[in-house]
Amino acid sequence: MPEKNEVPLLELKGIEKSFGAVQALTGVDFEVYRGEVVGLVGDNGAGKSTLIKCISGIFPIDAGEIRFEGKPVTITTPKDVADLGIETVYQDLALCDNLDVVANLYLGREKLRHGSGTLDEAAMEQRATAVLKGLSVKIPNVRTRIAALSGGQRQSVAVARAVMWNSKLVMLDEPTAALGVAQTKMVLDLIRQLKRQGLGVVVISHNLADVFKVVDRIVVLRLGRRVGTYCPSSASNEQVVAAITGAEFGNSEIEKGNEKEVEDERSN
Ligand SMILES: Nc1ncnc2c1ncn2[C@@H]1O[C@H](COP(=O)(O)OP(=O)(O)OP(=O)(O)O)[C@@H](O)[C@H]1O
Ligand SMILES: [Mg+2]
Repeated sequence: MPEKNEVPLLELKGIEKSFGAVQALTGVDFEVYRGEVVGLVGDNGAGKSTLIKCISGIFPIDAGEIRFEGKPVTITTPKDVADLGIETVYQDLALCDNLDVVANLYLGREKLRHGSGTLDEAAMEQRATAVLKGLSVKIPNVRTRIAALSGGQRQSVAVARAVMWNSKLVMLDEPTAALGVAQTKMVLDLIRQLKRQGLGVVVISHNLADVFKVVDRIVVLRLGRRVGTYCPSSASNEQVVAAITGAEFGNSEIEKGNEKEVEDERSN
């Protein structure tokens, strides 16, 4: 849990976003601290991807405030976000299957040899190897083409690419959705490694078992509103499911009380 007076790395206040008649986000507050992993959960259509896309500069917000490292920021394009040190790994990963690991890590940011127009392959390979080693990612050879990697290895390359350029916050949309048991473990280990390096991490997942294993805090969205915040060490799976479905906490006063309880817990 974050220190009481710590300034969040990212802080959203009262975010509103609608698509025509559909109100996708209503008054959403959201915060991530340095070295914290936040699980963002909710049913289909709850607004998780919309929230991430508002932070990533894909959708402009209708109202609300975004602060990064304590300062108000205006996010209009994905480049603004990259400049802040915020990276997003979407589910389709956007890797080039026919290129090798090194080329994918440097895609669009290739390094040229000093004084010539040719690529500095040796330097890129060396740094790629070091970055993957630093993240404890096991890939047999950085010259392997993406097409020949397992799902977990691909996810790891996509995460490595997101964090190797001085990123401070990384957001992962369903990072384990298509993975087997061993591959999922590899990705969860990688998330823990990012936390150890002091990054803020947001993980969207429908798999509550994975969420409970790796996050410090769980934020639940339902129908575009934040309806609960849970600490995985004290909350039960059933409580979180109830918040997601609205089964038990259908009454907004109880929801408020529930949020308060967590706030109190955080200030202890
Ligand atoms: N580009 C868009 N245009 C119109 N409506 C949209 C758009 N994107 C999202 N919505 C609507 O906003 C609401 C929230 O959708 P969002 O994709 O954020 O949900 P989600 O929590 O990510 O769900 P899932 O778990 O299914 O991915 C839904 O009602 C959806 O139909
Ligand atoms: Mg989504």
